[in-house]
Order: sequence, then structure tokens, then C-alpha cells
Amino acid sequence: MRIGVLTAGGDCPGLNAVIRSVVHRAVAGHDDEVIGFEDGFKGLLDGRFRPLDLDAVSGILARGGTILGSARLERARLREAAENCEELARSYGIDALIPIGGEGTLTAARMLADAGMPVVGVPKTIDNDISATDRTFGFDTAVGVATEAIDRLKTTAESHQRVMVVEVMGRHAGWIALESGMAGGAHGICLPERPFDVADLVKMVEERFARGKKFAVICVAEGAHPAAGSMDYQKGEIDQYGHERFAGIGNRLAAELENRLGKEARPVILGHVQRGGTPTAYDRVLATRFGWHAVEAAHRGDFGMMTALRGTEVTLVPLAEAVTELKRVPADRMDEAESVF
Ligand code: F6P
Repeated sequence: MRIGVLTAGGDCPGLNAVIRSVVHRAVAGHDDEVIGFEDGFKGLLDGRFRPLDLDAVSGILARGGTILGSARLERARLREAAENCEELARSYGIDALIPIGGEGTLTAARMLADAGMPVVGVPKTIDNDISATDRTFGFDTAVGVATEAIDRLKTTAESHQRVMVVEVMGRHAGWIALESGMAGGAHGICLPERPFDVADLVKMVEERFARGKKFAVICVAEGAHPAAGSMDYQKGEIDQYGHERFAGIGNRLAAELENRLGKEARPVILGHVQRGGTPTAYDRVLATRFGWHAVEAAHRGDFGMMTALRGTEVTLVPLAEAVTELKRVPADRMDEAESVF
């Protein structure tokens, strides 16, 4: 069998672990050939690929990013890929394509699968917002980075009697903010799923200072927004990939708190630090398992499917199921962390 693999969308710790696992299982386990397309679907459309053998993936398990490069692709070019997908598969001589990516990539994978390409998807995103899998790799790493940041910010905040507003990633789902906020013991957590009232945050900080705890750390997801009438905040525009450009809730909230409290409030935007660097052991294991199962699925002819973690088992789910809705933080998970909302 000849298998094509690509990584698309935003990068994520663990992508290299999947690539390595696909190559190991395919080459050493099945005597397959593997080729890697560069820069996601762009490489597939533009004919940029390279052979991947065991040497090519040696030493990449712990490396962040992706050795293949990654890119987002405009919808029009994706349609082009779907329209020509049988011809594309034939021209590369591939019997299976394993795209590794988030919601956008899996939607593209579904388009290709519907058009006749033999596809097995592998989900990735630090946001953990793909509904068909209990976990995506990259999330554990991102939560670890954000938690460490909160831990560190607490000591400096306390030394200077400041309020720190830590902005973490999470466009539509606040999983990173929820879990890092809980793990780091943030005093406030703001999620996209539940508009926050800035007056509640002001009250919380004032009560802490009155109790002698003269600092506070608030963890806010980049996609969080204030409740109507709570504070002025403009939504961002939509970019060419259909993503909202964020207007900087961390900066805006810190300025608002400083103004209302008359105390120093500093924003800290973690940004791509959460996505860079080495994956945690958990993410390496999950990524490796997904790669192994994707190759097995290809050999069984289980196309149009995606690997998924259900409980402790890796299973396959239809790509159609994976991209119907985002997995957002449910109300009961927010209630568990209620004391800090
Ligand atoms: O979807 C993953 C993610 O890391 C989001 O959390 C974040 O909003 C987005 O990607 C950032 O994307 P880019 O690197 O293209 O700005």
C-alpha cells in the first residue's frame, strides 16, 4: 500500500508523533510506502511531497511543530482538491490519505472522502473542541503550559499587589481556560460559553483585597466575551478562512479592571507559546495510538472515518460525525469550577 500523510491547520504538539507512528506502523508493520505532503493540502494540490521512511522520522517523537509544515487553505482551493481528488490520488499512486488536523481539516477530509478519496482522518487541536473524540492530542500540553504560566504569575502578582489577566487560546470552546484555570487556581475564569459580567470580577478582586489577599489572577479564553451591557467590547472581523479575528479580550479586560478598581491590572497573552515545543507524555502516547489506528483503518478499507478516543479505547467514527458540531464546555463543568466564576 502507498499512504499519503499531511498536517493541516494550526500546528499542535504531537503532530510529529502521529507522522512517526504512521510511518512505523505502515513501513515496519505492513511493508507500505509513505509519502508526506508539505504544508497540508497545499502540498497535495501543488505536487510537493517527499518519501517518509524510518530514517526520515527518527528523532521526531518529542519535537513540537510538524516536519511536514502546515497551512490553512481557502475554501475555493479545497473544492478544487475535492473536484480532482480521484485524479490526485491516481497521480500520486496513493491508496490512502491520512490528513491530520482540526475542525477545518476534518471538514476538508470529509469533502475529499465524499468525492471518492480514500481518507482516514486524525483529529488534532490544542482546543480539544472536536465532539467525536473525548480528547485531542496537544490539549494536555497546552493546559500544562497555561497552568505553569498561572502558577508563575501568582507569585509576581502577589509581590506587586496586581491583578493579572491571562489570555489563553480557545475560540469557541473554553477547555484550555477551564482546565488551566482550575489547575492553576485562578481566581476568575472567563469562557466563550458563558458571557461574563465584569462587575462580578471587580467584586471578587475587591473582596480578596479586603481579606488581605492583595492579588488576583483571572484566566480568560481568547473567545470569551462580556455579557451585554457589562462593558464595551467590539467583536472582531472574519478572516478569509472563516475565523473570527479576536479583538484582544485580555488587553481590554485588564484595562477595564484597572479603570474600575483603581489597582494595577496587567494583561499576559500566552498565544502561540501554548502550541509550541515538546508534547507531554500523554499527548505523545495519544498521537502515537492515533497514527497506529489510522494505518490499521486504511488496511481494513475503513475510509471516510476518523480516529477517536472514547474512554480509554481508540476507535473510528465517521468523519461526518466529527465535524457536525464543536465540543463546547457544558454547564456542569462550568458549575464545578463555579467558585471562581
Ligand atoms: O485552533 C487552534 C488554535 O490554536 C486556536 O486556539 C487559535 O485561536 C488559533 O488556532 C490560532 O491560529 P493562528 O495560528 O492561525 O493564528
